[in-house]
Amino acid sequence: MKIGVVMGGVSSEREVSLHSGKGILDQLDRSKYEIIPVEITSREDLTEKAQGLDLALLALHGSYGEDGTVQGTLETMGIPYTGSGVLSSSICMNKDLSKKLLRYDGISTADWLCWSSMSDYSAEAVEKLGYPVVVKPNSGGSSIGTHIVKERGALRAAVEDAFRWDTEVMIEQFIQGDEITCAIIDGELLPIIRIQASGSEWFDFSAKYEEGGAVEEVVHLPDDVHTRVRAAALGSYRTLKCSVYARVDIILREGIPYVLEVNTLPGMTRTSLLPKSAEAAGMSYSSLLDRIIQLSLA
Ligand code: DAL
Ligand code: MG
Repeated sequence: MKIGVVMGGVSSEREVSLHSGKGILDQLDRSKYEIIPVEITSREDLTEKAQGLDLALLALHGSYGEDGTVQGTLETMGIPYTGSGVLSSSICMNKDLSKKLLRYDGISTADWLCWSSMSDYSAEAVEKLGYPVVVKPNSGGSSIGTHIVKERGALRAAVEDAFRWDTEVMIEQFIQGDEITCAIIDGELLPIIRIQASGSEWFDFSAKYEEGGAVEEVVHLPDDVHTRVRAAALGSYRTLKCSVYARVDIILREGIPYVLEVNTLPGMTRTSLLPKSAEAAGMSYSSLLDRIIQLSLA
């Protein structure tokens, strides 16, 4: 079977994707598959480079990769791909829309605003949310262009910077609590991991990807809290119509989980959380890939 490991792409997370791709290429079982690295360098070259593949194993992140566009192209080419479908991928990439759906289904998520240009800017509206707030590109990833703003004086610069990365910017109440992440495969929750940034104040880009940037350990929660976290994670996966696998990021405050977002193509770098969580469940990185491949072809 000819498997293309599709990586790179044109989003702000291109470098992260190349690392995910490398992680996958290192771990795929070469005795089982014919493996073809497929590096995407422009929005146009997928159709040419994906020709003849039996499966596109997606190691892309962000726009034109994780947002349904690549999935749609592969659908029209008749090429199976790993992970969630078109609809789920595009909804999950849009944090504002995802949160609206989560709220509708009774899943807790912090209050927020979403602006589509600087003309929407209103320090008064943010005052109502209360500081600190997190300012982020609405369809971003890996914390690129994301700022924690503690006071009104720092708001405008943060919003302007976030608009450098996206046409929509989200301003979200900052929930002070423990950051945890829930990897899900085929609707089953893997061990929950708690993240504690080491050098940085929060789980920013360097904490995410630098060796030693964060301590990430399986956390054993009290039964009642575990039940709530499980319900929030699996509920988000279902509400947002994910399939095969995903990773739900959550802040846990006083035993209540607040869902930050759902990642349909979570990071697969050497320091990434999904392989760590799978390993804690006794599943090696390469058996995790086998599982993702089988489920995506089913
Ligand atoms: N957006 C990055 C790749 C993640 O969620 O892991
Ligand atoms: Mg993300």
